[in-house]
Formats: sequence, structure tokens, C-alpha cells
Amino acid sequence: MGVPLLDLTRENRPLWGEISQKVEQIADSSQFILGKAVSDFESQISSYFHLSDHFALGVSSGTDALLMALHVLDFPIGKNIITTPYTFYATSGVIHRAGLVPRYVDIKPGSFNIDPEKIKSAINKDTVAIMPVHLYGQPADMDEINQIAREHNLVVIEDNAQALGAEYKGRPTGTLGDMAGISFFPTKNLGAFGDAGLMIGKNQYKEKSTRVRVHGMQDRYDHVEIGGNFRIDALQAAILSVKLPHLADWNGQRRENAKLYRTLFQKKNLSSIITIPVEEKDRTHIYHQYVVRAPEESRNDLKKYLDEKQIGNMVYYPKSLHEQKPFAYLGYKLGDFPESEKATRQVLALPIHQSITSLEIEEVVSVIADFYGK
Ligand SMILES: Cc1ncc(COP(=O)(O)O)c(C=O)c1O
Repeated sequence: MGVPLLDLTRENRPLWGEISQKVEQIADSSQFILGKAVSDFESQISSYFHLSDHFALGVSSGTDALLMALHVLDFPIGKNIITTPYTFYATSGVIHRAGLVPRYVDIKPGSFNIDPEKIKSAINKDTVAIMPVHLYGQPADMDEINQIAREHNLVVIEDNAQALGAEYKGRPTGTLGDMAGISFFPTKNLGAFGDAGLMIGKNQYKEKSTRVRVHGMQDRYDHVEIGGNFRIDALQAAILSVKLPHLADWNGQRRENAKLYRTLFQKKNLSSIITIPVEEKDRTHIYHQYVVRAPEESRNDLKKYLDEKQIGNMVYYPKSLHEQKPFAYLGYKLGDFPESEKATRQVLALPIHQSITSLEIEEVVSVIADFYGK
């Protein structure tokens, strides 16, 4: 039996009746750009996450949410942002596109998130911000990061693309720093029917952000600063408003699936071979990805075996950003970030989607057990 890494039809089909009604309403109103669907979604998400010190604006993608945050903050060209090299390209891509320079700090051993212990020594006179990533859906060490930011007068921008609904000490990620970017890419825990995103920011940035989303426009054709077209489509906002009420259940089911994996890996005596994701203290991991570590010498063969048996899997990420061509100009070399580099050789994401059945999870573990002769 094959098991898909992800099956969006299982998620979207049951909601299609409600979604198609919303789509029809928007088509009838012809209000495709901003308007009621977008403001309703923003209010809905603000109350869902009990936002009070922060606001939420629907934007065109997770990448654009982060880029727009940097436009709003408007740091002088050439300043540094401390971030992780072990993430998706966009985290560093936006820093470069905003005229700033990514400055990398390795991830913690055993975790996939930036190591706060190493942040301090990376701060220099040009550092203006820290951009942690809540990778795979697990919050970074936000108390430590915020403490360092306070001591050095730095802004904190959370790359919360993968962690909507995760919590750190009972507070949702995306509201733990000054600004945050969230992705609604279709495969995310809350996914649109195309590209879409959300920018969350402290209330002091609300007016400027609202202008920057529409070309820096204050009144019609009165532009008071540089902005862009960072708008979310009304159709995407309407679709997301149908899906949002299910997010907590879906994230809960992902957590249940992770528990089942843990039990099955133990039962099959795979615990000494496969390292399952570590759930860190004081936080709720929402398992955007369920990423295990396999021994370096067997990871690629295991991947091949799973491919052959049609078990969905993926290596997120096969290279750290300091190994990627567009960031070669930063001058880092192999060996500079040993924990990130080690992770690239060990990681393998397994199916964790809320619609995966227990039988399918059993099948995934049993194929891995076969591979290791267990
Ligand atoms: C860590 C991280 N940052 C940023 C992004 C960018 O989001 P989007 O694809 O919505 O532009 C992603 C999306 O995959 C991501 O995983």
C-alpha cells in the first residue's frame, strides 16, 4: 500500500460546499481585491489568536509577508539580520531583497531551530534584527531570543511560515516578536487554493503596514512612501475563512499522528536507529512536517527504498542556505555551521497530514522496519 506524503483532496473536499458558496458570493459581488472578504478574514484571525497588541493583514504570500515587514521597518541598506541557515530559501531571500545582509547562526544540536547561545557572539554594530524560524512547526527559543533583542535593541521578526497555531508558553507564535510572516501555501497546515500569506505586527506598525500593502498609498493616488502590491486575493481570504475554524483540530490530529509514530517506532525497536522529533519544553509543536533523523550512511538508501514502496517522503532541506549559490557572496564555507550541515545529511520528512490514517502510519513504520531488517 502506498502512502502519500500529503493528500489535499482529503482536506479540501469535505469543505467544498461551503467554499464554493463563498466563491460564488465573491464572483457575484465582483469585489476581488481587498474588500469585505479580506477584512472579515482579518477580523476572524485576530479573534482566533486573541490579538490585542498585534494586528493581522492578509498578504500575497508568506515570502511577501516577511518582505513587507522589512519594508515597513525600513532599516538602512547593508544592515545585518541574524537568522538561521537551516530553513527554506525565502527567509534569507527577503533579507537580501530588502537591501540587508543575512548573518547566520547555527541551529541547536538535536533541534532544528536557531541556537540562542550562539546569537550573542554574532551581533555586531550593523545588526538590527533577529529572524528566527519556527521550523517544521516547533517554536524557537523565544524567551532567550527576545531577551537578547531587548539587551541589544534589536527587532524580532518571526518567520512563522510553518507554524500557524503553534504555541510557546501558551502564546501563539507570530505574536511573540515585533513582526511575523505566515504562509498559506496550499500544503501548509492552513492552506489556501494558491499563494497567500499573513503579516502580523505590533500595533505601532499597523498604519504604515496598511499603506505599504498598497503601494504606500494613503488616500486614493496619494502615495506617501514606497510600498508594493502585497494584497491577498479576496477569493483566497474567503477560502481561508472556511478552513480556519478547523485549524486547531487539524493541528491536534497531527500531534496525535506524531504520538502514534513514537509508539510504533518504539514497538518496532527502531528507536536506536531513527531519531524522532524532539518536542521541546514549554511549547506546542504543530508538526507542519514530521522530520526524523536517520543515520547519515543510510538516509539516502532509506529514502530510495521508501520511494520504491511509494511511501511519501522528502528531504527538507538537502542544503543549508550558506551552501546555496545565491548566498555564496556572504563568504561562508562548509564547516561553518556543523549542526545545520549534519541535519541536511540526516533528515527525512514522513507523512503527518491530519488526513493520514493510523493504518497508513503503521505502513510507513513497517516499511522503515523492513529496510532496517527489524
Ligand atoms: C520557513 C519558510 N519561510 C518562508 C516561506 C515562504 O512562504 P510562501 O511560500 O507562502 O511565500 C516558506 C514557505 O514554504 C517557509 O517554509
